[in-house]
This record gives sequence, C-alpha cells and structure tokens, in this order.
Amino acid sequence: MTSFAHRRVLVVGGTSGVGLAAAHRFLAEGAETVIASRSRAKLDAAVTELARYGAKVEGRTLDLRSDGEVEQFSAGIGEFDHVVVTAGETPMGRLDTLPLADAYAAMDSKFWGAYRLARSVRIAPGGSLTLVAGYLSQRPGKASALQSAINAALEALVRGLAVEQAPLRVNAVSPGLLRTPLWDALPVETREQMYAAAAERLPARRVGEADDVAAAILFVAGNPYTTGTTLFVDGGGMIA
Ligand SMILES: NC(=O)c1ccc[n+]([C@@H]2O[C@H](COP(=O)([O-])OP(=O)(O)OC[C@H]3O[C@@H](n4cnc5c(N)ncnc54)[C@H](OP(=O)(O)O)[C@@H]3O)[C@@H](O)[C@H]2O)c1
Repeated sequence: MTSFAHRRVLVVGGTSGVGLAAAHRFLAEGAETVIASRSRAKLDAAVTELARYGAKVEGRTLDLRSDGEVEQFSAGIGEFDHVVVTAGETPMGRLDTLPLADAYAAMDSKFWGAYRLARSVRIAPGGSLTLVAGYLSQRPGKASALQSAINAALEALVRGLAVEQAPLRVNAVSPGLLRTPLWDALPVETREQMYAAAAERLPARRVGEADDVAAAILFVAGNPYTTGTTLFVDGGGMIA
C-alpha cells in the first residue's frame, strides 16, 4: 500500500459523515489534508475537531455546483496526491412526485459536481481520484430511481476516467445505508426505525458507519493496483 505520510490530500465533503471520517484517517496516516465544503461554519467545526492531528489540516469553502468556483478553486490550490469527493445532495422522490427542478439539481450536485472537479483539479503522477457513489446503483429502492441513475453514472464515470486518464487511478466506493448526518432532517423516530429495519434485513445485521466507508476510501486510494473499480461497502445490501 502507498503511504499517505506527507502526501497532499483533498476531501470535498470533508466536513461531515464519510468525508470527515476519511479526513480523520488521512490525517492519522500523516497526510496534509485540505477539506472543502460550502459552509464556513461546518469547516471551522471540522478543522477544530481534526486539529488534534496538528497543523496539517486546512478548510476551504467550495460549492461543487458552480463551474466558476470549482475552476477558481482548482487553479489556486495547487497539486494533490489524492482527491476524494464525498459531496452531493440528492433528494429522494419517485418519478411522479419529485419536481423536475429537484431532479436536475440532484444530478448537478452529485454527478456534475464530481465531474467538474475531476476536470480541473491537478493530481500528481502516481496519485488517485476516488468518488463516492452508492449501492442504489445496483439495488434500486421504491423511490430511488434517480439516485440509482446518479450512482450508476458515477460508477461508469470512474471506469471511463481510469482508462482515459491513466496512469491516474480512479475508483468509486459505493456505500449502503449509513448512520451519518445525511439523515438528520428525518424525525428521530423515523430515522431509528429505518436503521432498525435495515439492520434486520442486511446480512451484516447492522447499519454502516462513516468510518466503514472511510476505510474503503483509503484502501482504493492507497492500493497501486486498484483502478477503475467500485468497492461496495453495503453490509451485503446488494444481495439481501
Ligand atoms: N449516508 C448514507 O446512508 C449514504 C448511503 C449511500 C450513499 N451515500 C453517499 O455518500 C456520500 C457522503 O454522504 P454522507 O452521509 O457523508 O453525507 P453528509 O454527512 O450529509 O455529508 C455531505 C458533505 O458534502 C458537503 N456538500 C454537500 N453539497 C456540497 C456541494 N455542492 N459542494 C461542496 N460540498 C458539498 C457537505 O457540506 P456543506 O453542507 O458544508 O457543503 C458535507 O460535508 C454522498 O454522496 C451520499 O449520497 C450516503
């Protein structure tokens, strides 16, 4: 495995959930880590939490939905060894109820956001790009056709980019249901019922944690023979 010590890493979405857990792991391995997201307040809180690893962490505001912001960010931030994108907002809703504007916004945030960054960010030779998709790509739910399509598009994108941009290594990690702040808007009772039902259904007999996925991100980013792959971290959700 490649060492992350003194490597420069960018985690877009690094202020919460999977991204924050990945930033913890990269910093613990000695990487110089930049975390990016839209909210300055979230960045400040995350940098304070991560500061226990020393002065190797920096928080930068970035909205992946903006062409101009992404280009400006990439032009000014320099070169990274490893780039990870966990950012994206994709409201759930069936084809017949989700407003078209929300559907476009979801694709713009998660798919085009990752594409925009991949297009402009500079990654050093021997480096990697890792995108976070989701197991709905393979195992659609009853109101998730759009999420399925966005995640499948990301998984196809990494295969294409791994060929096109070689020797840059490009991979996806596709989580199943996770206990992260993504679900904070749900009432506590609804959320806990959702987790309990999933834990009962899943072969792993539990819901995932952000760090389960962070470990997979560091694996694909650090393994020099892994490219163009999607690693599923879903508790067996795809086969349940
Ligand atoms: N949690 C799950 O159950 C689950 C399951 C399958 C797949 N996933 C996927 O895993 C990924 C990470 O999810 P998570 O649970 O870690 O979510 P989360 O806790 O909500 O974190 C999302 C992060 O992305 C940032 N972000 C959102 N939109 C952004 C934008 N336009 N530009 C820049 N940063 C943006 C957020 O910060 P700001 O608000 O400050 O921008 C935050 O740091 C997502 O792609 C999600 O779809 C999650």
